[in-house]
Amino acid sequence: MVPECCDGSRVLLGVSGSIAVYKAIEVTRKLQQAQIRVQVAMTSSAQQFVTSLTFQAITGHPVFDDLWVSKGRIEHVEQSHDMDLLIVAPASANILAKMATGLADDPVTTTALSTRAHILVAPAMEDGMWRHPATQHNMQILRDRGVWVVGPTEGVLASGRVGLGRMASPDEIVDAALHILHPPPLSLKGDRIVVTAGPTQEMIDPVRMLSNRSTGAMGIALSEEAVRRGAQVCLVLGPTHLKPRDNNHLRVVRVESASEMLAAVQAELAECTMFVGAAAVSDFRIANPRTSKWKRSDSEATHLELVENTDILKTATARLRALREDAWVMGFAAETEDLEQHARAKLERKGCDVVIGNIVGPNRGFGEGRTEVLVVSRQQPAEVLGPATKSEIGSLIWDKVAQMRGKFH
Ligand code: C5P
Repeated sequence: MVPECCDGSRVLLGVSGSIAVYKAIEVTRKLQQAQIRVQVAMTSSAQQFVTSLTFQAITGHPVFDDLWVSKGRIEHVEQSHDMDLLIVAPASANILAKMATGLADDPVTTTALSTRAHILVAPAMEDGMWRHPATQHNMQILRDRGVWVVGPTEGVLASGRVGLGRMASPDEIVDAALHILHPPPLSLKGDRIVVTAGPTQEMIDPVRMLSNRSTGAMGIALSEEAVRRGAQVCLVLGPTHLKPRDNNHLRVVRVESASEMLAAVQAELAECTMFVGAAAVSDFRIANPRTSKWKRSDSEATHLELVENTDILKTATARLRALREDAWVMGFAAETEDLEQHARAKLERKGCDVVIGNIVGPNRGFGEGRTEVLVVSRQQPAEVLGPATKSEIGSLIWDKVAQMRGKFH
């Protein structure tokens, strides 16, 4: 499965002589769909099957197809510096042998020898050639050198016989490439995380309330990303129009008021390893909410009597730390100014391991758009993440947390 978006990584696809060349065209297409820039180098045997013009037309870049035609630069050296990954697909027995030995006499092997980028090979050959001790020995040399290998698989070969030597499918090759270019993120396997998100609503009377502009987007993004990294998440979510994606490892508990949020969090803490307080919790609630609609004519209509809500983050942190030594707590600080100073004060006051600060204002900080956050901890200097989408920021925050936990716990 090719993800819809990726970044602009650069791949050089080295094509060698095999009937499987036609599949290299699909590999090119699928890499491009993943937003990867693809350039192509071809051996002369590959050009017996497909002309370089085909790849030039698909990629929009000149194909490196001849060692001896100078374009005013040393092509294999330029190419080798200008990429993140060299994929040799199809990789014939001959080209694998040349790569294992360090031979460099065609556009693909000269580049393979010059580059410091990752190399992925997708062998394609007849069964007998693949099984031959020489090929197996060459493959071992390449693997020991850190070359990645995908396939071959069993299936119908060029000869019509069935055997082991069929090139991996374009999907498998592209999956392998994406794995190399974007290694799976740091894991949260085994973590059970309680996340609060969204606003709270404190009822004044049956139709009016005290609330704020939070949508819960950041807390939802963090929860979804934590699940992607293997955690079990309980998301205690205030009233919002946003709907977290369904997932067996993400349980959503809907609440309205701060008191309900506190009760939901307390019910979950015993089993949890981390607490993330991303909710914008109302600091106050109404002392005596009306049971019927407040009228303009009521004598005390211009006065709201408020009482302070419990600080959920502070309470949960103290409880969690008493339950387990390796507990980890993330708080948030939404501020209109002096972000780092306020975030640091919250880090101490609430006993968090990290506080994520963000500047909020009339047109900033809320909703699903791009944002920028400040990561404040005791161990490391404050660091800005973003601007990026909230889901990208969620991923960057978990990377940071994993790094800090690895280092300091
Ligand atoms: O004190 P302040 O509201 O600025 O702190 C923000 C952080 O504290 C956020 O992580 C928020 O979720 C949490 N908080 C809480 N319970 C409250 C108030 C804030 O969990 N009653």
